[in-house]
Amino acid sequence: MDVKYVSRIHALPLELRMKLGELPYQYGMRASTKRDKAIEALNDSGIEWTEIGTGTNRFIFRYDSYAFKLALDEEGMADNMQEWAICDMLKDVAYANEISRRGHLLVASYCPAFTSFTEMNFYQHEIIQILKRWTDEGFLLGDVGLVSENYANWGLQNGKPVCIDYGYIFPSSVDLFGCVCGSHRMVPLNQTYSEYKCMDCQRRYTDRDLRSRISTEQRLQLFNNVKGVEMHSVEEMHECNEKYLINEQRTAGVPTKWETIYSIISKEHFSRGLDDFNE
Ligand SMILES: Nc1ncnc2c1ncn2[C@@H]1O[C@H](COP(=O)(O)OP(=O)(O)O)[C@@H](O)[C@H]1O
Ligand SMILES: [Mg+2]
Ligand SMILES: [Zn+2]
Repeated sequence: MDVKYVSRIHALPLELRMKLGELPYQYGMRASTKRDKAIEALNDSGIEWTEIGTGTNRFIFRYDSYAFKLALDEEGMADNMQEWAICDMLKDVAYANEISRRGHLLVASYCPAFTSFTEMNFYQHEIIQILKRWTDEGFLLGDVGLVSENYANWGLQNGKPVCIDYGYIFPSSVDLFGCVCGSHRMVPLNQTYSEYKCMDCQRRYTDRDLRSRISTEQRLQLFNNVKGVEMHSVEEMHECNEKYLINEQRTAGVPTKWETIYSIISKEHFSRGLDDFNE
């Protein structure tokens, strides 16, 4: 059945999209300067926005009640592409609703981050359950284990912990993690899910060691061909897979209210559209 899709990227003023879209390609520029440029462009655009945070390779702002993750370099673009590609498989994450074609900008559900390791630990049982499930399902985890460095990569949605920075979680189909002994049988070392052990030679690795052996180009390649509905304007009608509709919508038919539309937005609903912001 056809439903109305809403693009929040297209809702941004064109000039702003163009300015933001250029930033990852400013190779000589420092990350802090790029961040200043993004802030300046957002202020000049006249939209109502707030700063949420800055990660290693991304600047995150809030607009229209969503978290917009702006890549500042190619690594950040790969982070966005990877979150877009795996968010449905993972569940328990801040949903990646929409992405620009090359990954400059990702629109994620807004889930405020934990502000301390203490706060994260308050939810340790739920978080460990999620980490265990991902591991059982064959994912290799990076930057999401229950250790103090990672508290701001988790947050809350409706009172439940969800991962908000999952750009370094790899599905089992991606067999890039291997031990120097040649084995690929890597298992988490303990309940924090931040270190791995080789089952064959017992060597230990932190998740950072493992993932540092995967290049940005490899990551961009991996998730290059994930599909979505391509949009060219703010609102469009497109075919929608029934599985993305919530129950009431399945029985009631095509949604007409904005609230309803918001709640069904998902991977297939949101665009891969927008040619590098420069259309
Ligand atoms: N979906 C989200 N909702 C609310 N805040 C977010 C969301 N995603 C990221 N943030 C905030 O922005 C910060 C940086 O984002 P993150 O995804 O961790 O980027 P990076 O991969 O560059 O570290 C997070 O620590 C958090 O404070
Ligand atoms: Mg982070
Ligand atoms: Zn080994």
